[in-house]
Amino acid sequence: MDNRFKLSNRRYTGAKTKLLKHIDSVIKEKFDYTNAQNLSFFDVFGGTGVVSEYFMQKPQFGQFIVNDFLHSNFCIYQGFFSQDLFDINKLNEIQAHFWHLDSKTLKENYYSKHFGGKFFSHNDVLVIGEIRESLDKLLQNKQINTKEFYILLSSLLYSSDRIANTVGHYDAYRKNTLLQDRFVYELIDPITSNAKIEIFKQDSNALVKEFVATKKHIDIAFIDPPYNSRQYARFYHLLETLSKNNQPKLYGVALKPQPENMSNYCKIGAKEAFKDLIENLAKISKILVVTYNNTYVSKSSSSQNKIQLEEIN
Ligand SMILES: C[S@@+](CC[C@H](N)C(=O)[O-])C[C@H]1O[C@@H](n2cnc3c(N)ncnc32)[C@H](O)[C@@H]1O
Repeated sequence: MDNRFKLSNRRYTGAKTKLLKHIDSVIKEKFDYTNAQNLSFFDVFGGTGVVSEYFMQKPQFGQFIVNDFLHSNFCIYQGFFSQDLFDINKLNEIQAHFWHLDSKTLKENYYSKHFGGKFFSHNDVLVIGEIRESLDKLLQNKQINTKEFYILLSSLLYSSDRIANTVGHYDAYRKNTLLQDRFVYELIDPITSNAKIEIFKQDSNALVKEFVATKKHIDIAFIDPPYNSRQYARFYHLLETLSKNNQPKLYGVALKPQPENMSNYCKIGAKEAFKDLIENLAKISKILVVTYNNTYVSKSSSSQNKIQLEEIN
């Protein structure tokens, strides 16, 4: 049986996994691309990357630009989307080695000290921390190339996220639950594509300005920003910490690092940021596709929309 993770095997706020066909049919209503060739698709706020993955299966699309300012998402795009070569036998051997790690013989590490008994069982996170350290060493010693590093790191992110003691994000962990040892290191299943795929980790507004300056041509720009005050960098802080392995000082009950990548789309300035983005994207793109999630009537103030539908229009 193939246990490898697919790109979409992820819990992620606002992921469009279940809306892909609908998005496609809305695009086709306005722009029937059936007979087109070598179209370029820009996933401006890529998130999980499932929207790009969907269009990569369409022969009409030959170029992709996938962007998100989270480091963990960047690693995952490199793991799944980059078409650099990798040695699957080597990866299987490394996976087998990680399977044989015995938490009883492992020393405490940064991850077990902070997250043990909270986001993961102590034994599980001893192994997670040990694997994370090993990945940096394997890369430094040139035992794996960059693509192999990102496949192994994405595999660690997916394997850890799957068993984390959360409701799907890391704003809190569940208390008073008996944490069982459930961690299994499974590999991701990288995507093969003939398309040209460019991967970015930038603020979307800044990236679009660079594209305007270099007169980049985009056929479809897919725009799926956050629409409430819930900051993705805060929600997924643990995956950010794990992907960077910079071992930052952590604060509060949820053990978050100092804030970074705080999105303008989650703040008062959301409207201005959106206007600036659309004005610049319009200079280089044929079609702009915007998704909108209307949570305006939500009871929780952090879930209320920062931009309303009329304002977008
Ligand atoms: C609604 S989610 C996108 C979901 C995605 N379409 C999917 O199907 O998985 C919005 C994404 O925008 C990213 N983001 C928010 N503000 C950003 C900014 N200023 N620049 C780049 N990415 C940003 C977040 O990290 C988050 O992944």
